[in-house]
Amino acid sequence: MDPQISARKRIAVIPGDGIGREVVPQALKAIQASGAKVEFSEFDWGADRYLRDGVTVPRDGFAMLARDFDAIFAGAFGDPRVKTNIHAKEILLGMRFQMDLYANVRPVRLLDAALCPLKGVEPKDVDFVVIRENTEGVYTDAGGVFKQGTADEVAIQEDINTRKGVERIIRFAFEYCERHKKLDGSPRQRVLMCDKSNAMTHAGGLWQRVFKEVAAEFPQIATQHMYVDALCMQMVHDPRPFDVIVTNNMFGDIITDLAAGLQGGLGMAASGNIHPGKTSMFEPVHGSAPPIAGKNVANPFGAILTAAMMLGHLGLTHEAEKIDAAVLEAVRQNKTTQDVGGTLGTREAGESVATFVAGRH
Ligand code: NAD
Ligand code: IPM
Ligand code: MN
Repeated sequence: MDPQISARKRIAVIPGDGIGREVVPQALKAIQASGAKVEFSEFDWGADRYLRDGVTVPRDGFAMLARDFDAIFAGAFGDPRVKTNIHAKEILLGMRFQMDLYANVRPVRLLDAALCPLKGVEPKDVDFVVIRENTEGVYTDAGGVFKQGTADEVAIQEDINTRKGVERIIRFAFEYCERHKKLDGSPRQRVLMCDKSNAMTHAGGLWQRVFKEVAAEFPQIATQHMYVDALCMQMVHDPRPFDVIVTNNMFGDIITDLAAGLQGGLGMAASGNIHPGKTSMFEPVHGSAPPIAGKNVANPFGAILTAAMMLGHLGLTHEAEKIDAAVLEAVRQNKTTQDVGGTLGTREAGESVATFVAGRH
């Protein structure tokens, strides 16, 4: 076999619904422009497919992804025509849970001061990462409804926290802290565990104990704890002290939308769903944004930065850096969509990034 071809990374692409279908092509364009040796295979999983033939994930779909691909690049899932949101649950949460992608890594970086709603905050002040547990918590959907529709109705939604699950995500956060640098090249130094152990004592107690145990293995890394409510206040008051934050599934979901606000909005935020050594999945933090879908106004930069994250994960560091730098350049030159102050459409903003990428060597 041609070694060039065999060296290509195989990427499964699942654009999904709404603006997912608009931003994903822009991310693929940036990857192509970077010269990364990849090949894409696109899958039509999403609302249209589900409404057509009732299939959310084809039989053995997750096993196929794990076996045949080096990474998965996804857009967004959610469509007003599917009221139950069942397809999103089965595809998106399906990948996270069934492929055991336990670490949802969500970097929070401010590319330009103009994008941040906080006064006097510069890019160097917003450079942290949220490590969100991705396979447990309230997302397991354990529970039930009894006496539904009556005055005695009971709804139970369980929060499941296993020692194994808590321990591996906390260890992942410390290892991440050890291995990754800040954008200015300085080392990451601190892991902050965020919970609500003052109210949710059972789950919080486990997180507290495991955090202390795992922290002892990393004496060079400073530790800190915050309740999630106080952390939200701190994030909008002064985000500078944050470095690596580790938290459960639901708090991680919520604080990363808040953190997206610091970066210029959901259109700027990237994420990876990772299990070291297994096929991992990359997707922007935002959803399908039905009200703006199909209008060529969605910001493609979150998806493009996600593409860079995926290439970095696959070891294509040079290509990833080119894409990151190109997005930064586009932001600096205001070649952006309206949500971040520009005048361009989705395609045009994507095109400007691809041009900057192609111009870098
Ligand atoms: P959303 O992220 O789709 O939109 C929230 C707000 O941010 C909207 O005002 C939207 O217009 C704006 N926005 C989001 N992405 C943008 C972009 N790239 N450029 C410009 N503006 C952008 O969240 P929502 O409205 O709560 O959810 C819509 C649907 O998406 C729901 O079905 C939800 O379940 C789903 N969802 C999916 C994912 C995912 O697939 N990863 C994530 C979040 C929400
Ligand atoms: C996200 C989304 C999902 C989540 C939804 C669509 C289930 O909000 O990826 O942040 O809550 O994890
Ligand atoms: Mn979310």
